[in-house]
Amino acid sequence: MADVFDKCRSWETHRIFKSAGLYPFAPPVEELLSPGEARIHGRPVIMAASNDYLGLSADPRVREAARKAIAEHGTSCSGSRLANGTYVLHLELEERLAAFLHREAALALSTGYQTNLAVSALLGQDDVVLTDQDNHASLRDAVRLGGAVERVFRHNDTKHLEWLLSDTPPGSGVLIVTEGVFSMAGDMCDLPRIAELARQHGARLMLDCAHDLGVLGADGRGVPELSGLESSVDLIMTTFSKSLASLGGALAGEAEVIDYIRHWASPAVFSASMTPASVAAALKALELVEAEPERRRLVMENAARLRDGLLGLGYEVGRSPTPVVPVHVGDFMTCLRLWRALFDAGVFTGAVIHPAVQHGRELIRISATAAHTEAQLDRIIGAFAEAGTAVGVIGPQGMTR
Ligand SMILES: Cc1ncc(COP(=O)(O)O)c(C=O)c1O
Repeated sequence: MADVFDKCRSWETHRIFKSAGLYPFAPPVEELLSPGEARIHGRPVIMAASNDYLGLSADPRVREAARKAIAEHGTSCSGSRLANGTYVLHLELEERLAAFLHREAALALSTGYQTNLAVSALLGQDDVVLTDQDNHASLRDAVRLGGAVERVFRHNDTKHLEWLLSDTPPGSGVLIVTEGVFSMAGDMCDLPRIAELARQHGARLMLDCAHDLGVLGADGRGVPELSGLESSVDLIMTTFSKSLASLGGALAGEAEVIDYIRHWASPAVFSASMTPASVAAALKALELVEAEPERRRLVMENAARLRDGLLGLGYEVGRSPTPVVPVHVGDFMTCLRLWRALFDAGVFTGAVIHPAVQHGRELIRISATAAHTEAQLDRIIGAFAEAGTAVGVIGPQGMTR
């Protein structure tokens, strides 16, 4: 009989990259020195890989709310939402989120990943999910868990989506799923065309707004608000681990749909609920998203400063006006070498390699936050100048590939 552990013993890749100093994953953060700076492997580095876009994780008011919730409610709810794990705090968060997003109801779950998995409750083998090629793994996993037919459209290619819609068997339920801002490359979905296609074909539309909620739109309601198309989106998903400075996620939409998911989604039924500290932090952060719109202006200004600086050095970074700045490298080894050289130059970034992106589309992902200082942003740009030249990614004529 084969041993299911065999593959672990023969898997050498990570050991080889670790010994070459080119392993970019899970470096232990030893200390947060300031909102934009951490100590990793004993050295201070600028944190250019955080999704804490509004800089609220370090905000004393958010921290105090979490501390107070622990003092009043303890550290764990020790049960699932459907059992003993629904506290008044969870209901308050759901009501506030639903009101913020102009939806009838919301359901909060313990991680953003589980929140997307919960969509599986809506799906069955007679349903078809049309999903963008670059969608987050949790969205793809939800389709598998729900047992629906998955059809993948080329990234943001609405012609391909239109073709798939016209090729869908009559009588099947159809859900189009895409992201507001794509997590790795920071570009936005073509919501106007996708919403039009959904309407024409009678499909439902779900948007994962993990990276745009709090940041885009005058009031922070993400790409739907920015595009003036909030009523065209049937189901909105967001996480609390980015702009909302916490851990968890939520689905918001029609009350009957949310209620159904609450009762039938495995992550809601079989997994413990958000901790009191996480709920309280998300609630306070949501209050600040509404009360302090200048944070949105600041994070966008900071992202523009990074993008302009890197474009000036000759990097290919795209022009999407979001806090995520993708530095397209296009090659696995060069990506890892650039990541390491940036770390040596005092900047921590994200190396995005296959399977997070397709082969040959490897990139260094950096993100601006409202908490970055001008000096920190300039240090990031300076490190890209130094590291890019050392690795040979940029030269006097711009990118060398
Ligand atoms: C687009 C998208 N959706 C969902 C998730 C999952 O959220 P979480 O990390 O809060 O579980 C992420 C996380 O990176 C994401 O980028």
